Amino acid sequence: MTAIEPAADDREWLAFRDTLEKAIGVPLGAYKEPQMKRRLAAVMARRGVADWTAFAAAIKAQPPLLNEVRDTLTINVSEFFRQPERFSDLQQRIFPALMEKRKQLKIWSAGCSIGCEPYTLAMILNEIDPRGGHTILATDVDIPILSRARDGRAYLASEVRSVPEPVLKKYFTREGETYAVNDTVKRMVTFRHHDLLKDPYPSDLDVILCRNVVIYFTEQAKHVIYTGFTQALRPGGYLFVGGSELISRSRDLGLKTDGTSLYHRAA
Ligand SMILES: C[S@@+](CC[C@H](N)C(=O)[O-])C[C@H]1O[C@@H](n2cnc3c(N)ncnc32)[C@H](O)[C@@H]1O
Repeated sequence: MTAIEPAADDREWLAFRDTLEKAIGVPLGAYKEPQMKRRLAAVMARRGVADWTAFAAAIKAQPPLLNEVRDTLTINVSEFFRQPERFSDLQQRIFPALMEKRKQLKIWSAGCSIGCEPYTLAMILNEIDPRGGHTILATDVDIPILSRARDGRAYLASEVRSVPEPVLKKYFTREGETYAVNDTVKRMVTFRHHDLLKDPYPSDLDVILCRNVVIYFTEQAKHVIYTGFTQALRPGGYLFVGGSELISRSRDLGLKTDGTSLYHRAA
């Protein structure tokens, strides 16, 4: 029996995807294809590149173009206290309840981008338990963005717009038009490179935040990631997802919903 050959357009696309995958080291088969193609097509249009084959050649020849493509795929938009009411819930209800059972919490911000999310966690933990010695691990697949996050500066006014005024005064320094986080906060966060699609997950976590990351992934990839998160949590630990994200078949995974964007691992 003859195998069905992909059409020429598909072959070009698959060859391009293979080149890109090798160049950025991210398994692109897990990303939703129509969205990924739309975003890449926008870069091609901007750069006047005619087709996938020419795009693959251009990527190999021009490292800055590769960075642009990586940024397009990973989308690093973030801000401090994104969905502020969710962070109030963590500060007022979730963290104090967890601390009654365990003195030092282990928290993971997965897909941390420029660091706004883990630094927000550091600020609220410092408010409720300044000498707690809690662990905040912050990871991302994008290495250049991690070095920006570690640097902890050059945040725009739009990225600090939801920070309550007293918190802004206490934990940030204004540097011209931008903002830097102070050393107390920086010391509380450990940044590390990690690909949610292929690297092993940490274990015994009290809280995982993974917000606005899996929206780019296929249902199958999401299922693998949420299964990994559930196993990485201690029983009773919390998983905090993005505002528009729902975990399908969460009960089958052993997760219970706990209000908007929040799940916990059944004890
Ligand atoms: C829109 S940002 C979300 C930042 C933050 N969590 C928030 O909600 O403000 C998405 C981040 O997911 C990261 N990302 C994309 N694919 C990833 C993967 N396979 N593993 C880890 N991080 C990934 C991107 O590099 C990007 O920094």
